[in-house]
Formats: sequence, structure tokens, C-alpha cells
Amino acid sequence: MGRQSMSTDLPEAFCQVCGGSVKEFLDLGRQPLSDHFLSPEQHEDEYFYQLAVGVCQSCGMVQAVEQVPRELMFREDYPYYSSGSQVMREHFTRTAEDLLEQELTGPSPFVVEVGCNDGVMLRRMARDGVHHLGFEPSGRVATTAASHGVQVRTEFFDEDSASRVRTEHGPANVIYAANTLCHIPYVGSVLRGAETLLAENGVFVFEDPYVGDIVAKNSFDQIYDEHFYFFGATSVRAMARSHHMELVDVKRLPVHGGEIRYTLARQGEREPSPAVDELIGREQREGLTDHSVLRDFADRVHGVRRDLTTLLRDLRDQGSTVAAYGATAKSATVTNYCGIGPDLVSSVYDSTPAKQGRLTPGARLPVLPSENFGPPYPDYALLFAWNHAEEIMAREKEFRARGGRWILYVPKVQVI
Ligand code: SAH
Ligand code: TMP
Ligand code: ZN
Repeated sequence: MGRQSMSTDLPEAFCQVCGGSVKEFLDLGRQPLSDHFLSPEQHEDEYFYQLAVGVCQSCGMVQAVEQVPRELMFREDYPYYSSGSQVMREHFTRTAEDLLEQELTGPSPFVVEVGCNDGVMLRRMARDGVHHLGFEPSGRVATTAASHGVQVRTEFFDEDSASRVRTEHGPANVIYAANTLCHIPYVGSVLRGAETLLAENGVFVFEDPYVGDIVAKNSFDQIYDEHFYFFGATSVRAMARSHHMELVDVKRLPVHGGEIRYTLARQGEREPSPAVDELIGREQREGLTDHSVLRDFADRVHGVRRDLTTLLRDLRDQGSTVAAYGATAKSATVTNYCGIGPDLVSSVYDSTPAKQGRLTPGARLPVLPSENFGPPYPDYALLFAWNHAEEIMAREKEFRARGGRWILYVPKVQVI
């Protein structure tokens, strides 16, 4: 755990990357496991932890102050399927094609993916007969990947498992991870694994939600148990350097509300792109590692909670019906931090069979199949899956045509 008791009674947290002191800036209270959907019959005791985030005073890494054990989050029945969105399927197919064109050009290239989930990216590699291996500790999604012809190990990637792969398969030209590295508090072990596994001129490419977008959009719901780190170019370069690697490229991505794809290479192997210094310069000007700037973000987050709960209570009091759309992991933070229960939002519609018929963690909103979202529509739909807004609003255009209204809370509360 990052926290330790001090004689002052105030908990002090230490950076999981560099050991520096982590200064807290936002406390989102007691939270359940964000992807643990409950069966209505079983009123099981839920696991709760304290969700608070801070910034390392030495390396600038924004991070959670309490760790949730990984086995509680990434289990056999982990319910998130990466292929659930058309936009994301296209994104990962294009990613595979870019890697094939730019990096996997040698005679018998080898690519390893950390957190391959249902194989959404590696399917494209398998289709071309490219030597690949996915690490995916969550059993059911890993089985789905295998059913699509993907080679997968139901195992956590870390220093040990990486070195076993090096022995069995030889060096990797690319190690890729999407929305996974930020889930891993023991990131040092992963980086040591990458150092062992990568070919001399190989690259470690990973993409995760960007702290700059979270702050700019007030998207506090990116903060939940699985998201331990909130990366930026400044903090990632420092992290890479402490493992004999260099940040050689950064690319902004529009998915999941704004991400960055980072490319790491062994020190001295590749010339960093000018984009790296440009982005770090911009982060310094914006003060993205300053505690005071992050405190201002926290103040805006409190404002979003106030506006959202006021709106939902007003709608309830005037007799309007409100449902939600997208039982996202992010929404666990929104419902539990804002105190949104079934009295304010009747149910959540979602396309994932593994979530349907269950209750959302903590807040216990019933999850209904998204096919059931139809006439008679609720008056309002709170869009928890705001990162998929375009895709969802296009599919559900009849809702607005019949007078329904969407409620958004990123970057501010608005009804459209
Ligand atoms: N890459 C997919 C999945 C992201 S969800 C996408 O972008 O949509 C994160 C995934 O990482 C989960 O499927 C989880 O089981 C997996 N995971 C968590 N820790 C891991 C580790 N140490 N090694 C490999 N996979 C891990
Ligand atoms: P994510 O924001 O973490 O990707 O989660 C998206 C959730 O929203 C996931 O549970 C699937 C659901 N969803 C729908 O119900 N309909 C859709 O059209 C899309 C894209 C997602
Ligand atoms: Zn640090």
C-alpha cells in the first residue's frame, strides 16, 4: 500500500514509481470495485476502499493513494469486453495495421500485448499469421480472445512472466498495452519485464487516459479502482528514464475522452521526436504537475457534483423519469461520489450481457439490456458512457426525436 500512518495522524503516501512524497488533491470517498456487478439475489458484502488521488512531489506522477489487490479486480468474470464498441474495434484494427507497417517489418516479427482482453487488437495480427502473444489474467475475456485465434496466457504480465516469455519465444519487437499500464501499481516490475523482453531496437507502446484531458474536461470519473496512474508526458519520461528507457514519441488519441500513446525505446536506440519536448513544455506551462492547479481541478469536480445532484433532484421532484446509459466502470465513481441511487436514476441500459440483470456496484442501480431502451422512453437519459457519445447518440437517435433529452456531466452538467 502507498499509505502509511505518520505521527501526525495524517496519512502520507509514497510514489509507487520513484518513492517520492505524494501530496493528495482530491478525495472521492469510499468506493466499491467499479467492475463488480452484483446479482440481485445475493446481497453480498461489497469490498470498499478509499478513493483519493495525489501528485508526486518528485516525479510529477498523478496516482491513487490506496491500492486495491489486483486479484479482486481482474477475475474470471471481469465483465468489460473491449469489442463492445464499433469505434474501439476500428481503433484497434487501425492500431494493429500501424504497428505492422511501422514496427513489425522484419523477417519474423514478434508482438506481445499486455491486457489483450477479448483480443480486439491481436485478432488482426492472428489474421496475418504474425507471431504474437497476449497476456490477459481475466479468464473469461481471455477465452474469448482464444476463440478468435489469439494466442493468450491467462496471466499477469510482470518481471517474472516477461522473462519466461523471453526464454520461450525470444525477444519482442513490440510490447503494446492499451488502457492497462495505468491499471498497474507495480509498474516498475512491468518496465523491468519490458527491458528483459524487448529486442535491442524494440519499442514499448502504451496508451492511457491523459491527465491533461482529465483536468481540462473535469472528467473525474476516469478516477476509479482500476485506474491507478494518470500519466502525462512529464511523468512518463521520468518513469522511462529510471528504467534505462527513453520516451521517444507521444501521440494524442481522441478515444476514451482523450488519451496519449507513448512510445518507449532503450536509451540511445532512437532519436526522440520533437513532439515529446513540445508536450512536456506545454504541461509545464499549464502547471499539470502543480498541486495548486490540481486543487483547482478538485474544486471544479465538487462543482460538477453539486450541479448534477441538484439537477437530478429537481427532475425527480417535478415528476420526470430519468434513466442512465452505459454501465461503465467510470460510473461507479459518479454514482457513489454523488450519492446517485435508484431514487434519482431508475436503471442503467447497457449492451454487455455480463452486466445485464445485475446491480451496479455500490449504488445498486439495476442494469437492463440496451435493446430495451425504447418507447416508452424515460424523459431524460444520463450518459455515463460519454466517451462513446457519438456512437450511442447515433444509434439511439429516436430517443431525441421523441422528445428525450441527454444529460451530460463532462466537462460540465448540461442537458441536450
Ligand atoms: N486493452 C483493452 C483492455 C483494457 S481493460 C482495451 O484497451 O480495451 C484492462 C485489461 O488489463 C483487463 O482485461 C485486465 O484483466 C488486464 N490486466 C490487468 N493487469 C494486467 C497485467 N499485469 N498484465 C496483463 N493484463 C492485465
Ligand atoms: P467504457 O466507457 O469503459 O468503454 O464502457 C462502455 C460501457 O458502455 C460498456 O459497459 C458497454 C456500454 N456500451 C453500450 O451499452 N452501448 C454502446 O453503444 C457502447 C459503445 C457501449
Ligand atoms: Zn514519483
